[in-house]
Amino acid sequence: MCGIFGYIGNNKQAADLVLTGLKSLEYRGYDSWGIAAVNEGGRILLEKKTGKIGAAEFNFKNHSRIAIGHTRWATHGGVTVANAHPHLDCTGHFALIHNGIIENYDEIKKALLKIGHRFISETDSEVAVHLLEENYKSLIKKNKTNSQDSLFVEALKITFSSFRGLNAVIVLNAKNRTFGAAKNGSPLVLGFGNKENYLASDSQAILPYTNKLYFMEDQELVLVTKDQIKVFDLISGKEKSIKPVSVSWKTETEDKGKLPHFMLKEILDQGKVIKNIVTDSDENIKKFASLISSSFGTYLVGCGTAAYACLTGTYIFSKIAKKHVNFSVASEFGYLIDFLTEKSLVIGLSQSGETIDLIDVMKKAKERGVKLGAIVNVLGSTLYRMTDNKLLLNAGVEKAVVSTKAFTAKIAHLLLIAYALTGDINKGKTELRKAVEILEELFKPSSLNAIKTLATKLYRHKNIYIIGRGISYPIALESALKIKEASYIHAEGFAGGELKHGVIALVEKGTPCLAFLPNDETYFDTLSGVMEMKARGGFIIGIGFKNHEVFDEFINSGDCQMASGIPNVVVGQLLGYYLALCHGVDPDKPRNLAKSVTVK
Ligand code: AGP
Ligand code: GLU
Repeated sequence: MCGIFGYIGNNKQAADLVLTGLKSLEYRGYDSWGIAAVNEGGRILLEKKTGKIGAAEFNFKNHSRIAIGHTRWATHGGVTVANAHPHLDCTGHFALIHNGIIENYDEIKKALLKIGHRFISETDSEVAVHLLEENYKSLIKKNKTNSQDSLFVEALKITFSSFRGLNAVIVLNAKNRTFGAAKNGSPLVLGFGNKENYLASDSQAILPYTNKLYFMEDQELVLVTKDQIKVFDLISGKEKSIKPVSVSWKTETEDKGKLPHFMLKEILDQGKVIKNIVTDSDENIKKFASLISSSFGTYLVGCGTAAYACLTGTYIFSKIAKKHVNFSVASEFGYLIDFLTEKSLVIGLSQSGETIDLIDVMKKAKERGVKLGAIVNVLGSTLYRMTDNKLLLNAGVEKAVVSTKAFTAKIAHLLLIAYALTGDINKGKTELRKAVEILEELFKPSSLNAIKTLATKLYRHKNIYIIGRGISYPIALESALKIKEASYIHAEGFAGGELKHGVIALVEKGTPCLAFLPNDETYFDTLSGVMEMKARGGFIIGIGFKNHEVFDEFINSGDCQMASGIPNVVVGQLLGYYLALCHGVDPDKPRNLAKSVTVK
């Protein structure tokens, strides 16, 4: 899950251009970053720093027309300057950046050390550039006649093919003033300019410069010069003819205005997002309803917050449409797909559309002839392009790593699809409109201050427990994730009925216990759980449609029937946000996380 950007052309400030590109990709990983550029003298200039991309004071005094850059999310080796990308080979002719995990890096490194290669980092990535150097050197020796570009491509092909795992690399070749790239798993997008070309992890970084794009497929390799882009098949080495697409997408830039963080802005955006979903065309909603109704086994699959949206979906489809829909966490679904048939339908849910655990398992399902569906927020993302059955969340750009509006947008769409299955989509729209009214109440300063005050009472605690039953169970899980991610407090969500099967042992005097109690069939059973926690000294925060004397604190989340998960989870989001502030954490970029997880 790193950000990759490369430029080659006539612009003499290639390094600055790459830095701008990296800033738009920083959401993909922000442990460290680095840029390599080739100066007029043909030497590679390198600048690497740990931490988020700030104002970079380049030591690139010279002009450069070719540069690559990388923002890192560390998998192998700590967060240090030495481990930041780009990595150089021993000769200093190649600079390489990498997204993914080279699973067999250890054996490659041992072999390279034996023949004298010197490493300066602990990363798996660095073995790639030294192996490339070795392969290029031996090809040059054997093939005096072939062009240096063709030997470079061949060396990259041999090198990349020797990796196990899901990876993408870009290599700057200072001698030939070109760059090469190879992809298998992690995303890479090519941008075609006028005597200049681009390569990036996603299209948003390139769209400010060109809308003529080519989304690299797995097992492809490219050679990029300012005048041309050649694409090769990684297995056969043969050049492929490709058809770039001219997209009409606009770069979606969002700013947070006067608000302190994107996370708060995106939380407060949710009323508007759901209003738009209610007024959007029903065409895709009905298409998904018929896909589900005609499939023999539907599986909702996603990671993290998206997984909790999928789990919420199973309750929604059962309650509203009496339809059995399955759920699996994407990273586990690969161990469950043996029963899939051509009649199965696998719907991937994802904000970014790049989550490798999801993309990987959707590819495996597709290989089994399974029908795919995609419910995704980012236009043009890998998931978006995997199937014709796609439904855009239209939640707008979500910049905060801690996902909020994308979650409630997924719930809103799933609710409408379920009602579409019953032929009464308008009932779903009515419930969503009611949910929007409740959000408007929750977003009033008095409500926000009440939740902020509650956060000041809770933030010193090490553990927070959250219960819910039925549709409120995944809402409890998602609310716990918001608190964990944003404030680093250990929050645990669990099914209310599970309390007495062990978890209640954790409740002691003053332990914060949140309980979701919407106006539905779960109310009284959840209330019993609340009483049991109270009897053990728990500090009870009731979230629901009415207060109760057993609550130490109560937050009114109104009553909007099957859409109750939306206002309830928004309370969890706001609590997570205010707890983050109490802990001085930047909720837009919490430690160790990234917005789009493109490594396994
Ligand atoms: C959500 O707050 C987290 N950042 C994370 O769990 C996220 O939901 C997960 O990585 C899936 O991302 P996606 O929706 O872009 O696939
Ligand atoms: N595995 C590489 C590293 O740890 C790349 C990680 C990434 O994709 O950012 O540096």
